[in-house]
Amino acid sequence: MQVQLTRVINNENIARNIFRLTLYGDIVQNMNEAGQFVNIRVNNSSEYLLRRPISICEINKESNTFVVIYRAEGDGTNILSNLKIGDFVDVLGPLGKGYNIKSLNSGQTALLVGGGIGIPPLYELAKKFNEIDIKTIHVLGFNNKDDVFYKDKFMELGNTYVSTADGSFDERGYVTDVIKKYNLQYDKYYSCGPLPMLKALKEMNNQKEGYLSLEERMACGIGACYACVCKTEIDDTARVCYDGPVFKAEEIIF
Ligand SMILES: Cc1cc2nc3c(=O)[nH]c(=O)nc-3n(C[C@H](O)[C@H](O)[C@H](O)COP(=O)(O)OP(=O)(O)OC[C@H]3O[C@@H](n4cnc5c(N)ncnc54)[C@H](O)[C@@H]3O)c2cc1C
Ligand code: FES
Repeated sequence: MQVQLTRVINNENIARNIFRLTLYGDIVQNMNEAGQFVNIRVNNSSEYLLRRPISICEINKESNTFVVIYRAEGDGTNILSNLKIGDFVDVLGPLGKGYNIKSLNSGQTALLVGGGIGIPPLYELAKKFNEIDIKTIHVLGFNNKDDVFYKDKFMELGNTYVSTADGSFDERGYVTDVIKKYNLQYDKYYSCGPLPMLKALKEMNNQKEGYLSLEERMACGIGACYACVCKTEIDDTARVCYDGPVFKAEEIIF
C-alpha cells in the first residue's frame, strides 16, 4: 500500500453520469489482485479530507496505468468528473482483499455477475481468469439503456449477457432472471453490486461456492477506524476495507 500523486491520462464520460478515469503512476506496479480498491482524495481542500473508495477496474503494468470507473453522484465524485488530462490525483492503495482466483482450476468456468457501478472490478477479474485459462461468463445488470457500459469489453473475454430493469436494452429484468432463463452452467460465482442483488444471488446458489464484494461507507480505508464494520459468520466486526471488500458468500450475513 502506498500514497501517490498519479497523473490523469484520460477522464471520459462513457454512460449516463459514468466516467472512466485512467491514471498513470508507479502505484500500479503494486496492484496484483482484482477486487481491490483505491482511496482517492478528490482535491486538496480541507473540506474533502475524507478519501473516496473506488474499485480498480483495469491494471496495465506495461503502460504504468490503471483505470477506475465511477458514477458522479455526490460532491466528491462530481469533483472527479471535472479532472482534465495532466491533472494530478492523490491515490492511496491498493487496498483490501480481492477475489481469490486460485479458487478455480484451469478449464473450469466462473460466472461473473455485476450490478451497475459494481461492474468495474469484475473486468480485471475476467482478464485475470482468462489469462490462466478459466472460462468466464458475464451477466451485467443496469437500470436503463443509458446506464450501460463495458458490454463490448466483456464480450471480448467471454459470453456476456446484459439485463436492464426496464427492458430498454437487451434482456428485461434482473441478473438472476438471465441466469435462470439461459440455464447458465458454471463452477463458482463472483459478484459485486447492490446488496439485494448479492442476496438473491447467494440464495439461488446455495449449493455453490461464491465470492461477493461488499460496500460500506468508509473513512480511513486501511482497517484502523472501524467505520466500515459488518457482521459475518466468523467475525462480529469484520472491516469491509481490510478483511474485505470481497468475502466468501457463505460467511456473509445479510
Ligand atoms: C470498496 C468500495 C468500492 C467502491 N467502488 C466504486 C466504484 O468502482 N465506482 C463508484 O462509482 N463507486 C464506488 N464506490 C462507492 C463510492 O465510494 C461512493 O459513491 C463515493 O464515495 C461517493 O462520494 P461522493 O462524495 O461523490 O458522494 P457523497 O456526497 O458522499 O454521497 C453521494 C451518494 O453516495 C453514497 N455513498 C457515499 N459513500 C459511499 C460508500 N462508501 N459506499 C456506498 N455509497 C456511498 C451516499 O449514500 C449518497 O447516496 C465504492 C465503495 C466502496 C466501499
Ligand atoms: S474505513 Fe476505517 S476500518 Fe474500514
